[in-house]
Amino acid sequence: MSFKVKMQEAAKSKNSRIVLALDFPFEAAENRNKVLAKAQGILKAVHPYICAVKINHHLVLPLGTFDGVQQLVEQIRGQGMLAIMDAKVNDIGATNQTIAQYYYAAGFDALIANPFIGWEEGLKPLFEVAQRLNRGMILLCYMSHKGASEGYGQTIIDSETGEKTLQYISFAKKALKYGADGIVVGATYPQKITEVKQVVGKKVPIYSPGIGTQGGAAETAVKAGASYLIIGREITLSAYPAKAASQLADSIRGV
Ligand code: XMP
Repeated sequence: MSFKVKMQEAAKSKNSRIVLALDFPFEAAENRNKVLAKAQGILKAVHPYICAVKINHHLVLPLGTFDGVQQLVEQIRGQGMLAIMDAKVNDIGATNQTIAQYYYAAGFDALIANPFIGWEEGLKPLFEVAQRLNRGMILLCYMSHKGASEGYGQTIIDSETGEKTLQYISFAKKALKYGADGIVVGATYPQKITEVKQVVGKKVPIYSPGIGTQGGAAETAVKAGASYLIIGREITLSAYPAKAASQLADSIRGV
């Protein structure tokens, strides 16, 4: 079963299209041993309302990949969710392959990469590893922060077609061509979600971060074409994480 289909199954069985961004603020050395327990506690509370968990440097740096993070991935998968590594992989092919091999060895189901590196000796080696190990590859398309316009939003001359186009539209077309399992478009830009959806249709699901704290709205993002919402601080920093996750999952059910 491909990662894309596994996500559909997980979303169905959890009746939720929320991907939890398991992020926590910086902790000084003396408090770092509390980070793992904090992450385990949040997972225990919210897992009924979440279909997948996205881990970022917030946990890899303090816990290490094969120590704390691998334990969390086991917990995530044991609770019926999928594990996505948000490494935004962004290097030359040989390095990318090694990064992917380590994260997949730690049990991650999918990895996020940055399409600015291009295909040959960039993304291609990553897709080859993912295919060999039957794991997923998700590509950035338009990031959720303000400065995204400076890169993803530029008007470019497409190097393959010679046509004038928008960078993120070119990335959406490439994600479709490469057979990516998903693309990331910020919920802070619902109009761009719609434009990208027109390019990729149902073939490449759109993952949308930027809900709540960054200003995006859950229902608006889904109406615009997002398949899954990536949500961090609205849940992880809430006084009642389970209630927050449950309400967010409810808010887009049937939309
Ligand atoms: P919050 O707390 O804002 O966290 O809900 C969002 C999470 O998603 C990451 N993020 C992105 N990841 N493309 C990505 O691949 C994006 O455009 C993007 N915007 C935010 C962010 O690092 C955090 O983990």
